[in-house]
Amino acid sequence: MAGYLLILSTDIQAQSFEMLSPTPPMGWNSWNKFGCNVNENLIKEIADAMVASGMRDAGYKYVVIDDCWQTDRDSAGNIIADPERFPSGMKALADYIHAKGLKFGLYSCAGSRTCQGRPGSRGYQFQDARQYAAWGVDYLKYDWCYDEGQNAKAAYKTMSDALKNCGRPIVFSICEWGDNKPWEWGKEIGHLWRTTADIRDCFDCMHNWGGLGVLQILDKQVGLEQYAGPHHWNDPDMLEVGNGGQTINEYRTHFSLWCMLAALLMAGNDLRNMSDSIRTILTNKEVIAVDQDTLGFQGFKFIDYGDFEIWVKALSGGDAAFCFLNRSKEIFDLNFDWQKFGIYHYSIAKNGFNLWKKEYQVKDLWNHKIIGNTKNNLRVKIEGHGVLMVRLSSIEK
Ligand code: GLA
Repeated sequence: MAGYLLILSTDIQAQSFEMLSPTPPMGWNSWNKFGCNVNENLIKEIADAMVASGMRDAGYKYVVIDDCWQTDRDSAGNIIADPERFPSGMKALADYIHAKGLKFGLYSCAGSRTCQGRPGSRGYQFQDARQYAAWGVDYLKYDWCYDEGQNAKAAYKTMSDALKNCGRPIVFSICEWGDNKPWEWGKEIGHLWRTTADIRDCFDCMHNWGGLGVLQILDKQVGLEQYAGPHHWNDPDMLEVGNGGQTINEYRTHFSLWCMLAALLMAGNDLRNMSDSIRTILTNKEVIAVDQDTLGFQGFKFIDYGDFEIWVKALSGGDAAFCFLNRSKEIFDLNFDWQKFGIYHYSIAKNGFNLWKKEYQVKDLWNHKIIGNTKNNLRVKIEGHGVLMVRLSSIEK
């Protein structure tokens, strides 16, 4: 009988693990802005700012400390949080974050060391998972440095099994940069998987070591839409919005595209000192609603005219989001005849969106205005590196 009950409870835990991410995770992560310069005061201030700025109310909930919080292991193998930077310990920090109605996340690595050379979880997966649960961790980002020739799927499965059995629901973010096609095996193992190398705070750039700008990452998402859905998402990396390397217009484009991609929305800027225009981007509820739509379809590239692209995302209620992207630096004069285009894609076919049979109102999601309907051509000037992002809702519902 005891054995039967044990199996049942493990099963319930496993089931709840599968159900942890119905929509893409939203939160904040320390890496893009602060790198290794993390400490408990910073994290507390960020949690405070997440509430005060309206980010929490807009849907952001995870506060994630990336690399460098850990220094060593004790003689029993327990992972040690940096006692100088986190003198109150991780449990106290998690309690502080939870008391704000937020959730707490940490970072580790499937290799022997993290990318910054701190102790990784290889050989300690179950011990670490139990430790995270005891601290009150809700989210784990798990990296792929010092992998020492391990099989990626097996390495991530070990930590997945550890999390499933640690006694606490923990979202599992697979971060192996798309090297081993995690979209083909990540669904059973975690809730999201990185698809590319690290994002850089630039709109259109590529670094020798592999860092990618917004457009370069976007291009690598084409075709991956078939792998995404509720509880299993492609992850084109965290947001750079507000970190200073791009114009406000480019940041608006970056954010729009990530929402079209049903990407995680992990802010990466200093929430304590954010300008109004950056806060307005990060908290645009109508754009966030496209990302968080409960159907869970990832947007796909519908038309590619080189410097001009149209991305489409099927939404619940038979709606759709369209994102007209101007990749060039020049203004683009859009004159779009909705009637010319049928769309053949499984997501659109499933949600009943049909441009030929139904009429839709067209709402601009950045200006919050209805700008027409699908009987008439859409005529708009789109700034260089800019987007027009609209939601189409059927007029006869
Ligand atoms: C890798 C990851 C990044 C970040 C750093 C930390 O590069 O891809 O997102 O976590 O490690 O060292």
